[in-house]
Amino acid sequence: SLVEKRGFRHFMLKEIHEQPGVIRDSLEDRIGDRGSPVRLGLPTDLFAGLERIYIIACGTSWHASLVGKYLIESLSGLPTEVNYASEFRYNLPPLSDRILVIGVTQSGETADTIEALKVAHQQGVRILGITNRPESSLGQKYEHIIDTRAGLEIGVAATKTFTSQLIAFYLLALQLAHLRDTQTPERIHEILTGLQQLPTHIENILDTQERYITELAREFDATRDFIFVGRGLNYPIALEGALKLKEISYIHAEGYPAGEMKHGPIALLDAAVPVVAIAVPGKVYEKVLSNAQEAKARDARLIGVAPLDDPAAVETFDQILPVPVVDELLSPILTVVPLQLLAYHIAARRGLDVDQPRNLAKSVTVE
Ligand code: G6P
Repeated sequence: SLVEKRGFRHFMLKEIHEQPGVIRDSLEDRIGDRGSPVRLGLPTDLFAGLERIYIIACGTSWHASLVGKYLIESLSGLPTEVNYASEFRYNLPPLSDRILVIGVTQSGETADTIEALKVAHQQGVRILGITNRPESSLGQKYEHIIDTRAGLEIGVAATKTFTSQLIAFYLLALQLAHLRDTQTPERIHEILTGLQQLPTHIENILDTQERYITELAREFDATRDFIFVGRGLNYPIALEGALKLKEISYIHAEGYPAGEMKHGPIALLDAAVPVVAIAVPGKVYEKVLSNAQEAKARDARLIGVAPLDDPAAVETFDQILPVPVVDELLSPILTVVPLQLLAYHIAARRGLDVDQPRNLAKSVTVE
């Protein structure tokens, strides 16, 4: 076959390890100079006079879109909403030619997303597609596409295509910030430089944590429920961590904004329900740590995706899956990696068909 496992036990594990290269490829020739910092090959009139953006997607692409909303709004100030394609399709908001609808679909074939784009297109909106398959139905139908360049993904649970979608959103948000003059050229440059350093950081995470997470996974052989929490732009990463785990291990997992835990999920907590909290330095770091401590008070086992050497994190968590400290804005690309590994190793230990989990398809072409 064209794509091989190259010594990895499953495609999913291989694809997790491909992420540094995928990020390098996604950035390749797309970073320019001060006058034109981002080069996505999109015409500026696609963005002229925009009032609002709607992003529509399903599954993991929907999680990437939630991070995208955060990036677009915080960097460019453009109001942005994320919708499930299957909901948007039958509940269209008021639309006009001053609205950009971004369809995000790894495969470019998901029926809900394709159909939702079609009805929006009929209302005269502008359309941008983000896909890993420019040759797909999506790519053939719409002129403006960002190719996520992740290479073919075989594992049903998306990993490298997720990180490549995030890269597309960073570039798009920076492009908008440049065009709308909402960030200084220095800040734009700083973020672009930070993006270029991410592959090395991921290589470090993979080199140092693979073995540790393999060991840690043994402790969850009897676990039936998991809770993942995060805040801000790491809230979608908590959702993604939970989705990865449930898709391939069939363990019930919920992702929650850490601040909402006290309004419901905390009732579920006891020593049998581990809580994974994403806590990285930035705007909400202390808040997440104190939310995590609330869980600890209920005897929950606490795992932190957090900096290794911070005393506050060391004191809060029973285990730390360390991620290097970077600009908070860039952190989702790092925090998702230990969660992918955790889901993978828990499922692989259970002897499950990680690459082809029951009842799931790589791309869902029925509505
Ligand atoms: C299926 C896959 C998921 C994927 C979702 C959306 O459910 O199993 O991994 O995230 O479809 O797919 P798309 O190709 O539109 O991104």
